[in-house]
Amino acid sequence: MLIIALIGIILGLLYYAVRNRYTYWVRRGIPHDEPTFPKGNMGDWSSKRQLSVIFKDYYLKYKNSGSPFAGLYFFFTKTIVVTDLELAKRVLIKDFNNFENRGIFYNEEDDPLSATLVTIEGQKWRHLRHKLSPTFTSGKMKHMLPIVLRVAEEMSKVFNEKLPSAKELEITDLVGRYTADVIGTCAFGLNCNSQRGANADFVDMGKRAVTERRYFGLLDFFIFGYPKLSRRLHLKITTEEVSDFYTRIVRETIDYRLKTKEKRNDFMDMLIEMYQKHQEGNTEDGLSFEELAAQAFIFFVAGFETSSTTMGFALYELAQHQDIQDKLRAQIKEVLAKHNNEFSYDNIKEMALLEQVVMETLRKYPVLAHLTRKANSDYSLDDPKYFIEKDSVVVIPALGIHYDPDIYPEPEKFKPERFTESAIQARQSCTWLPFGDGPRNCIGSRFGLMQTCVGLGHLIKDFKFSVSPTTQVPIKFVKKNLLLSAENGIHLKVEKI
Ligand code: HEM
Repeated sequence: MLIIALIGIILGLLYYAVRNRYTYWVRRGIPHDEPTFPKGNMGDWSSKRQLSVIFKDYYLKYKNSGSPFAGLYFFFTKTIVVTDLELAKRVLIKDFNNFENRGIFYNEEDDPLSATLVTIEGQKWRHLRHKLSPTFTSGKMKHMLPIVLRVAEEMSKVFNEKLPSAKELEITDLVGRYTADVIGTCAFGLNCNSQRGANADFVDMGKRAVTERRYFGLLDFFIFGYPKLSRRLHLKITTEEVSDFYTRIVRETIDYRLKTKEKRNDFMDMLIEMYQKHQEGNTEDGLSFEELAAQAFIFFVAGFETSSTTMGFALYELAQHQDIQDKLRAQIKEVLAKHNNEFSYDNIKEMALLEQVVMETLRKYPVLAHLTRKANSDYSLDDPKYFIEKDSVVVIPALGIHYDPDIYPEPEKFKPERFTESAIQARQSCTWLPFGDGPRNCIGSRFGLMQTCVGLGHLIKDFKFSVSPTTQVPIKFVKKNLLLSAENGIHLKVEKI
């Protein structure tokens, strides 16, 4: 009897807690969709809609509701979906101090590779961001350009070799090997050469790092919904195999470079400099081995798929817009003709259309299509009704903003002219967010743009891309992935120029 009574009381309490949580937005009079147990408003995720698409639809539905945000239940987590650009600006830039963290799980002690610049919080993040920022200046990019160019030339050769036998190619895999080689070389100092099938492990592990889940994915919602508690319970996200693999590679690379004193001017060189400072006792400016390994790992994970996916989507759009493709090719050739037929950091900037094409691609397909921040403390807006409670997750729905017809008329259309200097000036800030905004924006945006422009420039110069019967139009996104990606890859007809 006692046990039955206890179970009854526990169930009653649980029912009360869930009911209390699921009436939070009603009680506050904030517009929101009706939640259902246990996924809240995430019922369509991940079988029917991709995560960022859910936030996009929410933004478009509530943007004229009169409230600066809509309420959403991410399972049981109170989530704010920003529907007003002024609030987006406050969260990302003006009142950044209250929203500096993402509230994503990491566990430095038990899972050191999870403690990256993307996840860590507070003073630790500020300090690390400050230390790593000099790694990404335009001067450093110039030093790394020769590596990127070498790999891009190799990519053109690989495309060329594939062509006599195949008129149609699956693009995402090929450009993914290009960016994997670029970042693998720059962040891990490996001559990856995955384009020629070498070091396949390195790229496979990189893919597995973002797709494979510990605990069969069953604890995902708990780990991401309750990061602090998960940390106390010593939960981890990186699988043992991925962690051992990358830790070993970093250890070998450091040992090799310190022994041979080889300098390559890449990310790894700069990380090793910080590691040496740490070894000399300067913990203020230095990085421990675990910290170094985690940052090299996140540079690879954050830098490889984002850029290759952007290249894939750009080629997909250019294949459907032959006029833009021809104009772009003519401009690339014209600029190269003036510079000994060689790409350089400065002459890429002269290829204005190339950058506009990439920017418009990132508008239509911002690979990481929503941004998240967590409120450090209660935050009040001009109208106190719209306060943001401490610990609420704040989502900036970048994809929604990018498809808002009041900002980008005919948002489905691919129009690079939206990104001429004057058109950009005419729009307010926080309307183009593929790299986020504010002090916690993408630290690698310059590098990402450089490798995307260099890769795309090489391919457009040498090949003509067009749609084939197997090209999927309109494109469908993989629903379960965090990043936007094409459901069945991107198949295009490719011809040598
Ligand atoms: C086209 C390529 C890329 C895209 C679209 C992209 C996108 C993003 C976005 C949307 C964010 C979140 C920004 C925010 O919350 O405001 C981010 C953060 C970040 N990205 Fe990128 N990224 C790209 C390339 C790279 C590259 C090449 C690297 C490194 C080599 C990199 C490293 C990072 C890191 C470390 C962060 C976290 C920054 C912090 O929290 O301080 N990304 N990226």
